[in-house]
Amino acid sequence: MDIYTTLTNDHRVVADLLRRIERSGRFATSERAELFASVRNELLSHSHAEDRVFYSTLRGAGLETLIDQAERDHALVEALLQQVEAIAVLDAEWLTRFRDLAAAVERHVTIEEGEIFPAARRVLDVVQAEALGTRMLQEKAHDAGAAVIEQQKGAYRVTATR
Ligand SMILES: [Fe+2]
Ligand SMILES: [Fe+2]
Repeated sequence: MDIYTTLTNDHRVVADLLRRIERSGRFATSERAELFASVRNELLSHSHAEDRVFYSTLRGAGLETLIDQAERDHALVEALLQQVEAIAVLDAEWLTRFRDLAAAVERHVTIEEGEIFPAARRVLDVVQAEALGTRMLQEKAHDAGAAVIEQQKGAYRVTATR
Protein backbone atom coordinates (compact mmCIF):
# COMPACT_ATOMS: atom_id res chain seq x y z
CA MET A 1 0.00 0.00 0.00
CA ASP A 2 1.56 3.33 -0.98
CA ILE A 3 1.87 6.29 1.37
CA TYR A 4 -1.08 8.14 -0.19
CA THR A 5 -3.47 5.22 0.33
CA THR A 6 -2.19 4.61 3.87
CA LEU A 7 -2.66 8.25 4.87
CA THR A 8 -6.02 8.59 3.10
CA ASN A 9 -7.33 5.50 4.93
CA ASP A 10 -6.39 7.10 8.27
CA HIS A 11 -8.04 10.37 7.22
CA ARG A 12 -11.28 8.50 6.47
CA VAL A 13 -11.19 6.74 9.86
CA VAL A 14 -10.83 10.12 11.61
CA ALA A 15 -13.57 11.74 9.47
CA ASP A 16 -15.91 8.88 10.37
CA LEU A 17 -15.19 9.24 14.11
CA LEU A 18 -15.72 13.02 13.92
CA ARG A 19 -19.08 12.48 12.20
CA ARG A 20 -20.14 9.93 14.81
CA ILE A 21 -19.30 12.36 17.62
CA GLU A 22 -21.28 15.11 15.89
CA ARG A 23 -24.27 12.77 15.56
CA SER A 24 -24.12 11.50 19.15
CA GLY A 25 -26.42 13.29 21.57
CA ARG A 26 -25.18 15.67 24.26
CA PHE A 27 -26.31 13.27 26.96
CA ALA A 28 -24.65 10.22 25.43
CA THR A 29 -21.61 11.24 27.46
CA SER A 30 -19.87 7.86 27.74
CA GLU A 31 -20.30 7.23 24.01
CA ARG A 32 -18.93 10.70 23.25
CA ALA A 33 -16.03 10.25 25.64
CA GLU A 34 -15.16 6.88 24.08
CA LEU A 35 -15.37 8.21 20.52
CA PHE A 36 -13.30 11.23 21.51
CA ALA A 37 -10.61 8.99 23.07
CA SER A 38 -10.45 7.05 19.78
CA VAL A 39 -10.22 10.18 17.66
CA ARG A 40 -7.53 11.60 19.95
CA ASN A 41 -5.40 8.44 19.77
CA GLU A 42 -5.86 8.14 16.03
CA LEU A 43 -5.01 11.80 15.38
CA LEU A 44 -1.89 11.72 17.55
CA SER A 45 -0.47 8.44 16.26
CA HIS A 46 -1.29 9.46 12.67
CA SER A 47 0.32 12.89 12.84
CA HIS A 48 3.39 11.68 14.75
CA ALA A 49 4.04 8.86 12.27
CA GLU A 50 3.27 11.22 9.37
CA ASP A 51 5.87 13.70 10.69
CA ARG A 52 8.53 11.05 11.09
CA VAL A 53 7.95 9.15 7.85
CA PHE A 54 6.32 11.40 5.25
CA TYR A 55 7.10 15.00 6.21
CA SER A 56 10.75 14.35 7.02
CA THR A 57 11.22 12.79 3.56
CA LEU A 58 9.45 15.68 1.82
CA ARG A 59 11.49 18.23 3.77
CA GLY A 60 14.63 16.57 2.41
CA ALA A 61 13.14 16.75 -1.09
CA GLY A 62 12.77 20.54 -1.03
CA LEU A 63 9.14 21.01 0.08
CA GLU A 64 10.04 22.91 3.27
CA THR A 65 7.47 25.70 2.92
CA LEU A 66 4.53 23.32 2.50
CA ILE A 67 5.77 21.11 5.34
CA ASP A 68 6.31 24.08 7.70
CA GLN A 69 2.65 25.02 7.21
CA ALA A 70 1.52 21.40 7.67
CA GLU A 71 3.49 21.12 10.93
CA ARG A 72 1.87 24.30 12.20
CA ASP A 73 -1.49 22.63 11.43
CA HIS A 74 -0.44 19.58 13.48
CA ALA A 75 0.52 21.83 16.41
CA LEU A 76 -2.83 23.64 16.16
CA VAL A 77 -4.74 20.35 16.12
CA GLU A 78 -2.84 19.17 19.22
CA ALA A 79 -3.61 22.45 21.02
CA LEU A 80 -7.31 22.16 20.12
CA LEU A 81 -7.34 18.52 21.27
CA GLN A 82 -6.05 19.67 24.66
CA GLN A 83 -8.71 22.39 24.83
CA VAL A 84 -11.50 19.87 24.20
CA GLU A 85 -9.98 17.48 26.74
CA ALA A 86 -10.00 20.21 29.40
CA ILE A 87 -13.82 20.54 29.19
CA ALA A 88 -16.34 18.07 30.61
CA VAL A 89 -18.17 16.19 27.84
CA LEU A 90 -21.54 17.18 29.31
CA ASP A 91 -20.68 20.90 29.21
CA ALA A 92 -22.42 22.83 26.37
CA GLU A 93 -19.03 24.43 25.57
CA TRP A 94 -17.61 20.99 24.73
CA LEU A 95 -19.35 20.76 21.34
CA THR A 96 -18.23 24.27 20.34
CA ARG A 97 -14.58 23.41 21.06
CA PHE A 98 -14.99 20.02 19.43
CA ARG A 99 -16.31 21.68 16.25
CA ASP A 100 -13.28 24.00 16.15
CA LEU A 101 -11.09 20.92 16.32
CA ALA A 102 -13.09 19.08 13.64
CA ALA A 103 -12.89 22.12 11.32
CA ALA A 104 -9.11 22.41 11.80
CA VAL A 105 -8.68 18.69 11.05
CA GLU A 106 -10.85 18.97 7.91
CA ARG A 107 -8.91 22.00 6.64
CA HIS A 108 -5.62 20.24 7.20
CA VAL A 109 -6.73 17.05 5.44
CA THR A 110 -7.96 19.10 2.45
CA ILE A 111 -4.53 20.80 2.16
CA GLU A 112 -2.71 17.51 2.64
CA GLU A 113 -4.66 15.58 0.03
CA GLY A 114 -5.12 18.53 -2.34
CA GLU A 115 -1.67 20.18 -2.19
CA ILE A 116 0.87 18.04 -0.35
CA PHE A 117 0.05 14.75 -2.09
CA PRO A 118 0.35 16.23 -5.62
CA ALA A 119 3.65 17.94 -4.65
CA ALA A 120 4.92 14.66 -3.14
CA ARG A 121 4.00 12.75 -6.30
CA ARG A 122 6.32 15.06 -8.22
CA VAL A 123 9.33 14.30 -5.99
CA LEU A 124 8.74 10.65 -5.00
CA ASP A 125 8.72 7.72 -7.40
CA VAL A 126 6.38 4.72 -7.09
CA VAL A 127 8.93 2.56 -5.25
CA GLN A 128 9.58 5.30 -2.67
CA ALA A 129 5.85 5.90 -2.20
CA GLU A 130 5.34 2.18 -1.56
CA ALA A 131 8.26 1.99 0.91
CA LEU A 132 6.96 5.03 2.82
CA GLY A 133 3.51 3.42 3.03
CA THR A 134 5.04 0.34 4.67
CA ARG A 135 7.08 2.49 7.08
CA MET A 136 4.00 4.50 8.02
CA LEU A 137 2.18 1.29 9.04
CA GLN A 138 5.23 0.13 11.02
CA GLU A 139 5.55 3.46 12.85
CA LYS A 140 1.87 3.43 13.81
CA ALA A 141 2.07 -0.18 15.01
CA HIS A 142 5.18 0.71 17.03
CA ASP A 143 3.38 3.72 18.53
CA ALA A 144 0.37 1.57 19.47
CA GLY A 145 2.68 -1.04 21.07
CA ALA A 146 4.47 1.66 23.08
CA ALA A 147 1.11 3.02 24.30
CA VAL A 148 0.09 -0.44 25.55
CA ILE A 149 3.43 -0.86 27.38
CA GLU A 150 2.99 2.58 29.01
CA GLN A 151 -0.52 1.61 30.10
CA GLN A 152 0.79 -1.65 31.56
CA LYS A 153 3.57 0.20 33.38
CA GLY A 154 0.96 2.63 34.72
CA ALA A 155 -1.22 -0.25 35.91
CA TYR A 156 1.84 -1.85 37.52
CA ARG A 157 2.77 1.37 39.30
CA VAL A 158 -0.78 1.72 40.60
CA THR A 159 -0.81 -1.80 42.05
CA ALA A 160 2.78 -1.58 43.33
CA THR A 161 2.16 1.55 45.39
CA ARG A 162 -0.99 0.21 47.05
FE1 LIG B 1 -2.55 13.17 7.46
FE1 LIG C 1 -1.10 15.77 8.67
